Amino acid sequence: MALRLGDIAPDFEQDSSEGPIRLHEWLGASWGVLFSHPADFTPVCTTELGLTAKLKGDFAKRNVKVIALSVDSVASHREWIKDIDGTQGTTVNFPIIADGDRKVSELYDMIHPNANETLTVRSLFVIDPKKKVRLTITYPASTGRNFNEILRVIDSLQLTDNHSVATPGNWQDGDDVVIVPSLKDEDVIKQKFPKGYKAVRPYLRLTPQPNK
Ligand code: BEZ
Repeated sequence: MALRLGDIAPDFEQDSSEGPIRLHEWLGASWGVLFSHPADFTPVCTTELGLTAKLKGDFAKRNVKVIALSVDSVASHREWIKDIDGTQGTTVNFPIIADGDRKVSELYDMIHPNANETLTVRSLFVIDPKKKVRLTITYPASTGRNFNEILRVIDSLQLTDNHSVATPGNWQDGDDVVIVPSLKDEDVIKQKFPKGYKAVRPYLRLTPQPNK
């Protein structure tokens, strides 16, 4: 069965471009982004991995480690990394899992046989420090993902965890946020949101982003 939000991300040990990795141990106390791509030496994947490498500092700022996956071998990954570095003007600075036996792909339901019998689609999982799955997305092989959107979702999740707020549609960092509906005690709200809030409706309460 497909993984659902709130499930524990399955642990595994698998080889990678940086040697064998046991996922939970490798993540430690960090958040994680685990994402699959169909195959090495393909154009869309090359741009995605280059982009991800360039965003390393943005992921690190949020305490997030990233790890990619395809069903190609470690030797292939290492050759391809040279190409990504050369063509994307970056240095791939995260591991790429070599999932030749499809162990991880099957655990995470990354192969969708009606799309492709053997190759992984573009699956992506955000995993929190308790190892819970907090975001799942699946893109077709022909569409590269928007990694700024992944960062935006991580910001939203971390705001929810740390400040009891949710983020409205099209929210961007710095915009007003909404107080979660479960928070009802007026005294607690005043204490948690000293910048104040505006109740557009009793269930729609806007407040300035608390960590700004
Ligand atoms: C790619 O990864 O570049 C790709 C894969 C399948 C279809 C088109 C592009």
